[in-house]
Amino acid sequence: MNAPNNGSTLGGVLTSYSPDQVSRLVPDALGDALERGEIVHFPRCPIELPGEADLKFLRDDLAAHLRNKNVSYHPETDSIPGLKSDPARTERAQKILKQHAARVEAFLTRTMPTLTRDWTIGTSSFRPIQEKGRNLSAHASNELVHIDAGAYGPTYGDRVLRFFVNVNPIEDRVWATRGTFPQLYARFGRAARITPDTRRHASLERGALDNLRTGFLRTLAAVGLPQAMLIDSSPYDRVMRQFHNYMKDEPAFRDDTSSEVEIRFTPFSAWMVLTDMVSHASLAGQYALVNTFQLRLASCRLPELAPYRILSTA
Ligand SMILES: [Fe+2]
Repeated sequence: MNAPNNGSTLGGVLTSYSPDQVSRLVPDALGDALERGEIVHFPRCPIELPGEADLKFLRDDLAAHLRNKNVSYHPETDSIPGLKSDPARTERAQKILKQHAARVEAFLTRTMPTLTRDWTIGTSSFRPIQEKGRNLSAHASNELVHIDAGAYGPTYGDRVLRFFVNVNPIEDRVWATRGTFPQLYARFGRAARITPDTRRHASLERGALDNLRTGFLRTLAAVGLPQAMLIDSSPYDRVMRQFHNYMKDEPAFRDDTSSEVEIRFTPFSAWMVLTDMVSHASLAGQYALVNTFQLRLASCRLPELAPYRILSTA
């Protein structure tokens, strides 16, 4: 694990990789770092970014046309549903985000051949809004430290990977973390009632009701309501949602910042993290590219560290 071409670690939270270290990476080294719960950080983004004119277009020309808080390219429909704009503007945004997605995907499959096996490629998004002081509800707020529970329907224990680039030319993007899922589970699992002896159902296996729900939602999806699958769930995903909500709602956790570490990501730096593994909050910053992937639990090289295994056995 400590091969000379590994990055330099800051307090076990964040590991930085210089361009030279990236060029000499052993296959799967980055994936193992992610699975151990490290934020993998690139002071210089390891992939080519959209040109300055395209970045300026994303930063300056989209804000007035937003339907949602993000502009997201969806590969499954080859479209950007969040943009309400004229065809030329939509087409340009789509082209930029799609090209960026292809570069991120090529980098990840090259450096992490095992962890990316059978993955599902999610959205390629641009976040145009200043994170600080957005006044969202607690459950939607990025400013409160949390771990992610599956955002696009049930994961059944699969992992959530996000790859970020700060494309603000002058302002840092500021994060906070309070450690990894295993650390937080050991400290707060019982209080959050997610341990097998405190949660409603000890088993994470899907029951008859889960199968019934999934069957019903599949029928709806088959008759033209694909978004029905987004409200599907599983015992594992409900437990993760419960922990996510505990972290944002419970004052004893929410307001105790004693274990918090602040991280500043400078302009044009990049970082990636398993967001179901590492607690995080986005405290400040504007303009980021964010690519989301669902990784198979079966493709993990260190599955004993994954939340599913920990929740199953502890
Ligand atoms: Fe999150």
